[in-house]
Amino acid sequence: MKLILLGAPGAGKGTQAEIISEQYGIPTISTGNIIRAALKNGTEMGLKAKSYIDAGELVPDEVVIGIIKERLSEPDCQNGYILDGFPRTIPQAEALDNMGFAIDAALSIEVPDDEIVKRMSGRRVCEKCGASYHTAYKKPEKDGVCNLCGGDLVIRKDDEPETVKNRLHVYHEQTEPLKAYYQNCGKLFTVQGQEEVADTTRLVLAELEKLI
Ligand code: AP5
Ligand code: MG
Repeated sequence: MKLILLGAPGAGKGTQAEIISEQYGIPTISTGNIIRAALKNGTEMGLKAKSYIDAGELVPDEVVIGIIKERLSEPDCQNGYILDGFPRTIPQAEALDNMGFAIDAALSIEVPDDEIVKRMSGRRVCEKCGASYHTAYKKPEKDGVCNLCGGDLVIRKDDEPETVKNRLHVYHEQTEPLKAYYQNCGKLFTVQGQEEVADTTRLVLAELEKLI
């Protein structure tokens, strides 16, 4: 399966990608996670991306297109992949089409803006491995500690309320038009994001079953 996950920041793309990845045995490619890892390692690309991410703006198209081209060429992507957070602009979608990496479907997780703002304030991420938690919806076994690697859980810098507002604005302006883009080629599916992760997952998996 070759799948794109669309949705506003905090809609639950990363959360659902992790579950689908396990269920179908295909890798998740998250441009956000790749960029954050580069930032942590102090690479040139990471440093270049920092000011954009911190302000809630998109990193320039050519940077993320380069990342995706390289990653999709790796052998583990041959049987399918989940793209979490890419494409995010029409030029990125066109670049993906032109690279020759086909996609089967674009699944959009729909969550209203006011719900997003609430959700983001509760997100905590592992400083060490990047795993994502929520103070109400996805609690770690031990407060402030990652279940997977024992790292400290922290608030992502771009989850500050003012930055979230800008990320939502950027989403509506630059990313939401992708829904029409994929609708036009008959590849768009949508689910309404639910209050519980497991309820959203049920809807997502039901849509994916239709593709097989
Ligand atoms: P990125 O890391 O992709 O961030 P984002 O799209 O803003 O999305 P998030 O990771 O915040 O949300 P998500 O939908 O994955 O939600 P999650 O599952 O974590 O990108 C960050 C930045 O990198 C961008 O702003 C940009 O600068 C740059 N970038 C990345 N890709 C780019 C590209 N292609 N082009 C240009 N720039 C790019 O869930 C959120 C929280 O809610 C969690 O705490 C979770 O536990 C909780 N939750 C999830 N589902 C539910 C549910 N159903 N009910 C209740 N809580 C839930
Ligand atoms: Mg994410």
